[in-house]
Amino acid sequence: MKTKDIYILGIESSCDETSAAVVVNGRQILSNVVNSQIDIHKRYGGVVPEIAGRNHVEAIDSVVDEALRQANVTLSDIDAVAVTYGAGLVGALFVGVSYAKGLCQASGLPLVAVNHIEGHICANYLTYSNLQPPYICLLTSGGNTAIVKVNDYDNYDVLASTVDDAVGEAFDKVARIVGLPYPGGVHVDALAQKGHCTYKFHDVVTTNGNFSYSGLKTAVLNTVHNAEQRGEKVNTSDLCCSFTVAAIDGLVRRAVQECQRHNLNKIAVAGGVGANSYLRQQLSQLTNQGYEVYLPKLSLCGDNGAMIASRGYWQYLSGNFADLTLTACPTLKLRGQKPHR
Ligand code: KG4
Repeated sequence: MKTKDIYILGIESSCDETSAAVVVNGRQILSNVVNSQIDIHKRYGGVVPEIAGRNHVEAIDSVVDEALRQANVTLSDIDAVAVTYGAGLVGALFVGVSYAKGLCQASGLPLVAVNHIEGHICANYLTYSNLQPPYICLLTSGGNTAIVKVNDYDNYDVLASTVDDAVGEAFDKVARIVGLPYPGGVHVDALAQKGHCTYKFHDVVTTNGNFSYSGLKTAVLNTVHNAEQRGEKVNTSDLCCSFTVAAIDGLVRRAVQECQRHNLNKIAVAGGVGANSYLRQQLSQLTNQGYEVYLPKLSLCGDNGAMIASRGYWQYLSGNFADLTLTACPTLKLRGQKPHR
C-alpha cells in the first residue's frame, strides 16, 4: 500500500534571502522561490542586519504565496510548516519564525523548527533522490565549517569544525581585501580560475584536525600590504587561486581521512562554498579513487526554502515539532558542536 505523500512548506529568512518552498517527501521540489537582497546589500559591502530584517518583512508574504502558487497547492494540502530558527541574524530570523507561527496558529498546521545548517545538508537529498546515510558531509557555509558524519536522517556526529572563521567568511574577507564586490566568494572563484598558485599559504588544518581560517585571511592581507610597501601590486588572480587552494585542500583532505577512518565511501558537500568550482573539481576527482561524490545543484548550495522543507520532512517523520513559543536562536550550533567564539 502506498503511504500518503507528505507536503512541507519550508520558510527561510536567516540572512539576506527570503525564501519559501514546497517539497514532497523531503526529496521532490514543487516550488522554491528565492527573493535575494544581494543587490540591496552590495552597496554597503556586506549584509546590513536592520535592512535585511525590513526587507524580509516586505517580501515574506508574497514569497510564501508565490511558493504555494507555483507548487499548485493551497495551505490545506500542506502537512507542516518548517522554518529556520537559527543560526543567523536575529532580526532576519524573527521575520520567518513569526510568519511561520502565524500561519500555524491560523491554519492549525504543525510547526517544525529547523537548524539552518542541518538544512544545508539536506540540499543533497533534493539533488540525489537515491542518497541515503551514512556518509561524510563537508559543511562549507558562510557561517560555519565542519565535517559531519551523517549516521541517519536525524542523527549525525560533528567530527571537525572551524575554531574561528568559516570558510565562506574567509572567501568574503579575501574578496574585500582585493576589492571585489559582496558577496565575494563567487568573484574570488572566477578570478582564481584565471590564476596560478604562485603564493604559498599555510594549511588550514589545525594540529588536532579542526580548521582555522583567520590566519589564512591575515596572511592574504599581509601579502597585499607587503607588496604595497614595496611599491608593487599583487597579481589578484594568482592571489585568489593560491588562497582558494589553501582554503579548500585541507577540507578535502580531512573529509577523505574521515571517510577512511569510518570506512565510508560517500562524500557529500553542503553550504554556499559548495558552489566553488575548485572544491567541486577536487571532490569530483575522488570518484577515481572509488568514492561516491554528492554535489548539490548550484541553485541549492546557497540559502533556500527547499532545503529547510526537506529537513522539516525528516523531523516531521520523527515527530520533532515545535510549539508557538518558538523564538529565533541566532547562535544555534550543530548538535555536538562546541561554540568556539
Ligand atoms: O551557505 P551560505 O549561503 O551561508 C550560510 O548559510 O551561512 O553561504 C554563503 C557563502 C558566502 O560566504 C559566499 O561568498 C560563499 O558562500 N560562496 C562561495 C561561492 N559561492 C558562494 N565561495 C566560494 N566560491 C563560490 N563559488
